[in-house]
Amino acid sequence: MVNETSKRKLDHINACLENDVETRYKTTGFENIDLIHKASPKIDLEETNLETALFGKKLDAPIIICPMTGGHEKGKKINLALAEAAQDLNIGFCVGSQRAAIEDPMLEETYRVREVAPDTLLFGNLGMTQLNCGYGTEEAKKAMEMIDADGLGIHLNALQETIQPEGEANFRGSLNNFNEIISELGEPVYIKETGGGITGAIASEFVEIGADAIDVSGAGGTSWAGVEALREDSTTKLGEVFWDWGIPTSVSTAEVSDAVEVPVISSGGIRTGIDAVKAIALGADLVGIGLPLFRASIQGKEKVTEWLNEFIIELKIGMFLTGCSKLEELKSTSLHISGTTREWFISRNLDPEDFGGLV
Ligand SMILES: Cc1cc2nc3c(=O)[nH]c(=O)nc-3n(C[C@H](O)[C@H](O)[C@H](O)COP(=O)(O)O)c2cc1C
Repeated sequence: MVNETSKRKLDHINACLENDVETRYKTTGFENIDLIHKASPKIDLEETNLETALFGKKLDAPIIICPMTGGHEKGKKINLALAEAAQDLNIGFCVGSQRAAIEDPMLEETYRVREVAPDTLLFGNLGMTQLNCGYGTEEAKKAMEMIDADGLGIHLNALQETIQPEGEANFRGSLNNFNEIISELGEPVYIKETGGGITGAIASEFVEIGADAIDVSGAGGTSWAGVEALREDSTTKLGEVFWDWGIPTSVSTAEVSDAVEVPVISSGGIRTGIDAVKAIALGADLVGIGLPLFRASIQGKEKVTEWLNEFIIELKIGMFLTGCSKLEELKSTSLHISGTTREWFISRNLDPEDFGGLV
């Protein structure tokens, strides 16, 4: 007997594999941002160094594979392929929401990846809605112990909860519930969106009560309203109407990086190493990648590694062409911000000049 959450996971997997689930008219805004080309970069491409660290664990590149699945046999294979690639490349990995396995311990093994990723920076994942509907420190501990995680991601998916028929759109008490977990768990916990983006003000509220990092997961990539609209038994047009809802990833990245001191992860529509270079130039410490790796994982770990290796080369070339050999240098490189992205910046009280300005 497949539980409801497990069935939902399979619906989501199929919707993401068989359809175009990315925003239709809204973009990340990275296309309106140009890094200033250095005709003579004064460094050797070989010198570009992508090493960084998060929560005390060294990473060879500033990349986290976003939480996507588990809770179903198909999800298990995907998690193993993603985790193995993360181990090979020494980058971070987060499993998908573990609610299904908290409800049904038989599903725990669909999240367990330590065997293939013994050294990987590995995160568990739960939804804020679960915290608001009764989950507490006990479930958070369970989620971490289940996979021997190094930390926990708590996702905000208000948009999706309003659209999915079985959604629980209750975000009352989120800060208190999060505070309780943060103070009792004693492990790194970060907050992430799921494609809607986060404002600086909301990121600050969570950081003030102890969030150890923020993943902005903005709009311009996978649309969860879209995924819900494509589910087999979807009967409303809500998903269609809200398909493009959210703050573009570039804007959310700049805004949150400006507002908080903890590490910022930029995700939502990060598709090339150039997107990553721009995200880091806007203040992000790392980038997160979801959908493209999800699709690659169906063909096995090799495809995931191949996709990521290309991405890493692009990232290095982007750094080289801006004359930056280290990620830290990239943060103060010059940017040209134009079009609707510039308008977004100004409407969010972000001065484009502060991000390298118009050169
Ligand atoms: C198939 C799929 C399942 C996802 N499941 C989760 C989840 O369980 N928990 C979560 O925090 N985010 C989940 N996400 C959201 C991603 O982690 C990420 O925030 C979002 O997809 C934006 O990145 P992208 O545009 O690179 O896909 C999921 C995304 C996809 C594509």
